[in-house]
Amino acid sequence: MRVLGIETTCDETAAAVVRLRPDGRGEILADEVMSQIAAHAAFGGVVPEIAARAHVEILDSLIGRALAHAGLAAEALDGVAAAAGPGLIGGVLVGLMAGKGLALATGKPFVAVNHLEAHALTARLGDAVAFPYLVLLASGGHTQILAVKGVGDYDRLGATIDDAIGEAFDKTAKLLGLSYPGGPAVEAAARDGDPARFALPRPLIGKPNADFSLSGLKTAVRVAAAAAAPLKPRDVADLCASFQAAIVDVVEDRVRMGLKLFRDRLGLAPRAVVIAGGVAANAALRGALARFCAEAGLPMAAPPPKLCTDNGAMIAWAGIERLRLGLTDRLDAPARPRWPLDPKGARALNNKA
Ligand code: KG4
Ligand code: ZN
Repeated sequence: MRVLGIETTCDETAAAVVRLRPDGRGEILADEVMSQIAAHAAFGGVVPEIAARAHVEILDSLIGRALAHAGLAAEALDGVAAAAGPGLIGGVLVGLMAGKGLALATGKPFVAVNHLEAHALTARLGDAVAFPYLVLLASGGHTQILAVKGVGDYDRLGATIDDAIGEAFDKTAKLLGLSYPGGPAVEAAARDGDPARFALPRPLIGKPNADFSLSGLKTAVRVAAAAAAPLKPRDVADLCASFQAAIVDVVEDRVRMGLKLFRDRLGLAPRAVVIAGGVAANAALRGALARFCAEAGLPMAAPPPKLCTDNGAMIAWAGIERLRLGLTDRLDAPARPRWPLDPKGARALNNKA
């Protein structure tokens, strides 16, 4: 089974072809990602209209390149998958319509993929991660801890009540004059910094739930930065290291609580702990969670950093996971700016969760 995946929900235009191997894992035959970072950098964040136009300009040729690298004609595909949300609606429409068009023209099955589900399932592309598992999904727009019971079957254990973790990285970077996107910039600056210099809060640590709250931490960074101004490179490095250390402590505590909730609700331990989403590319976080999981006696799986940030392979893989269960979508599948994975999320008002 070979599936094309199309991703246009935010500021990466991506197209990839993934093959389902006989052993049940995926093989990436082509993986094209075109970042729009340069187009948005001057604004310090993603400008939706600029993003949508940039997707329109590049997507056709990117799909062509992905098929060429995979050595396939579109007719040789077994399905077409496109992210149908959640995300910036202009961009989502571009990828969704392209995917539907290709599926219609070639007569192949179409899968409208939930971008969050794609993040949550990506660990299974490269590793034999069995259900049920616990996933920490941390991206620029979402932060949640879920029990993944199967494809399309999620139980929300916790979520952020204000900012997403990636958003906190991005806002901290902006405040400190670092480049966009903030995550990699903060991580790089933190490498030379002293994580103990600034005593920043660890919001919600110890609370008997698996929720996150990060806006207070962001404010604390702002106050500490103002007190240390004018900031020299050493101050910026120390602030980044202190911020990242706070995030790592919070994540570890919240995952610990998530594991407890998982056991309480499902009556069994997860088969693995998975981290996913752009923030999962962070080496300090990966290292801390790997140590935590080793101590807890649980396997940890994290996709390679390139598959943590937005990409087409994760959409193709989610398409494969659905297609092999016979789950396809009609060509009138809607583009969805909001698309919670779980029933509880569908009722929640906070669209960042
Ligand atoms: O999953 P993703 O690529 O896009 C969304 O679906 O949002 O996640 C992007 C987020 C951004 O906030 C970015 O700053 C963050 O992931 N990020 C990181 C790192 N790389 C990307 N955060 C911390 N450390 C990183 N190395
Ligand atoms: Zn994402």
